[in-house]
Amino acid sequence: MHNCIKLLILVISICKRSFSTEICKPKVAIIGGGIGGASASHYLTDLFKNNLKIDLFEPIKLGGRLATIEIGENEYEAGGSVIHPRNKYMQYFVKLLGLEKKDPGGSSISGIWNGEKFVFTESKWEIVTLTKMIYRYGFQPIKLNRYVNWILDNFDKIYDFHESGVAFENVSSLLYALNHDFPGLLNISLKDHLHNLEFSTLSIDELAEATLVVNYNQETNVHSFVGLVSIAGAGSDLWSIKGGNKKVPENLIRRNNLVKVIPSGVEKIRLVLKNENSLQYELFYRNKVTGNPDFVSDFYDIVIIATPLTVDQEYPIKFEEFPPETLFHFPGKYQTTVATFVHANLNTFHFGLEDEIDAVYSCNPNFTNISSVGKVDSVSEPKKGTLKTWKVFTKENMTPAFMNKIFSQVGDFKVKSWKAAYPRYSTENRFDRFKLQEGLYHVNAIEWAASAMEMSAIGGRNVAILAYKDFTKKCSSYETERKTEKAHSSELKSTSKL
Ligand SMILES: Cc1cc2nc3c(=O)[nH]c(=O)nc-3n(C[C@H](O)[C@H](O)[C@H](O)COP(=O)(O)OP(=O)(O)OC[C@H]3O[C@@H](n4cnc5c(N)ncnc54)[C@H](O)[C@@H]3O)c2cc1C
Ligand SMILES: *[C@@H]1O[C@H](CO)[C@@H](O)[C@H](O)[C@H]1NC(C)=O
Ligand SMILES: *[C@@H]1O[C@H](CO)[C@@H](O)[C@H](O)[C@H]1NC(C)=O
Ligand SMILES: *[C@@H]1O[C@H](CO)[C@@H](O)[C@H](O)[C@H]1NC(C)=O
Ligand SMILES: *[C@@H]1O[C@H](CO)[C@@H](O)[C@H](O)[C@H]1NC(C)=O
Repeated sequence: MHNCIKLLILVISICKRSFSTEICKPKVAIIGGGIGGASASHYLTDLFKNNLKIDLFEPIKLGGRLATIEIGENEYEAGGSVIHPRNKYMQYFVKLLGLEKKDPGGSSISGIWNGEKFVFTESKWEIVTLTKMIYRYGFQPIKLNRYVNWILDNFDKIYDFHESGVAFENVSSLLYALNHDFPGLLNISLKDHLHNLEFSTLSIDELAEATLVVNYNQETNVHSFVGLVSIAGAGSDLWSIKGGNKKVPENLIRRNNLVKVIPSGVEKIRLVLKNENSLQYELFYRNKVTGNPDFVSDFYDIVIIATPLTVDQEYPIKFEEFPPETLFHFPGKYQTTVATFVHANLNTFHFGLEDEIDAVYSCNPNFTNISSVGKVDSVSEPKKGTLKTWKVFTKENMTPAFMNKIFSQVGDFKVKSWKAAYPRYSTENRFDRFKLQEGLYHVNAIEWAASAMEMSAIGGRNVAILAYKDFTKKCSSYETERKTEKAHSSELKSTSKL
């Protein structure tokens, strides 16, 4: 008897709990299955303590700009390839998912080339490299390294903010919280900024320039925040993930059984007003599985856009029935970068070299036509008898004639053209927002500060916190409303008894 009552109470309390949370259980859509969408799905699940449902839309392949390409029997990183040792979220995901880190390898001896000559080349001996470095640039590289580390020290604050549940509605408020001078870095070019800090012309036009050309296929006229991120990306101890960096987004999404992957691109988002203070979104897509060309649609409480929204994207998204004052505007363009993978030898003659080196970085891309050439390692243990493989970054497809100019004994090759690799940066004022409006968020706003895996992971957590806070606020006010209603009705009941 006693036990029965206990059981009854237990059943009632469980029912009550699942009932009262049901109203506060959001239906979430995440648009894009790259690292940004994967990060958002992870942190949302965490914040809502599994009390949510997620549909994640991805028309191509989980991983997005983290993708590998196969040549011969091996796989190579075709998009995002190296991770900085201070990238905390990437480290955390690797640990969480039980993945292994690896040395990205490949390019141990590199040089900076202006199309006529190498302005700087490394040596097998570190001490010789250091001496050559000081001979050409003085102590500028050391000063630059110190400055970049100071930027990174400030940048680290984002992790504390997120950990304590603080998130930001737009890019400039995020940067401002890290350091009050950071938003100002967005409207001055790297070139001018480093000049103002009394860096030498040589170190700007060769060292800083070469990092921007290889990392972003752009030059030192970009804004200084992304410019400094690019210089940080030239540091040492960079790493990557065994089996491919794409393993992080893939596994983060696949292991989460609250996420349903829908293999379609979202074409349209329609705003639906449920009632005065409750919005919903209707997402339209074509069902790829059934092959039906007609639109299918579903309704969501929270929509997280985890893909760029500029007009030059492959799967553009339309916004429908939003009030005119919210007209969203996503200015700017993305840079095209072509990555060519080839089995060959470097044509030392073309580069005016005596011996082959592992990597060539251009500091004058208009003249060299290539942005970089570097030997690459496969993402897993290479198969026996693997041929030497090079990765070339250019702005346009290489012609066969040009390929035979820079290489000899050209064998197999493969091309991956990234039509929209990363934003084309300038110093124009921008107003990029994570929160587009209540219930609608945009991870990739952060790319306009700098595009990198870690940045999208940060963007993902940032919007997860914003979405969680907005939703629970709405939900708790709804709950109190319900409670007062209930209290009111039981009051009525008791008076009617009288
Ligand atoms: C060549 C290259 C080299 C790079 N090197 C590095 C590096 O060394 N280190 C580093 O940290 N970063 C690097 N990056 C940058 C890094 O890869 C990106 O910043 C990061 O991967 C972006 O992740 P994301 O999830 O924000 O976007 P994406 O990976 O682009 O994901 C967006 C996803 O959304 C999908 N999608 C698009 N439209 C729709 C739609 N309408 N509906 C549904 N889904 C849609 C896309 O198919 C895509 O899968 C590099 C990028 C490139 C291109
Ligand atoms: C750059 O931004 C800072 C801070 O937002 C502002 O004070 C400054 O006037 C801006 N400069 C230019 C040239 O727009
Ligand atoms: C290279 O060309 C582009 C446009 O074609 C130009 O904007 C840029 O300044 C040039 N770079 C250099 C270093 O001359
Ligand atoms: C770059 O391309 C132009 C035009 O195709 C060509 O004239 C020039 O020789 C090339 N430069 C190098 C260094 O190959
Ligand atoms: C960014 O957010 C801050 C704080 O929420 C706000 O004061 C500011 O006006 C916003 N800026 C833009 C460009 O939206």
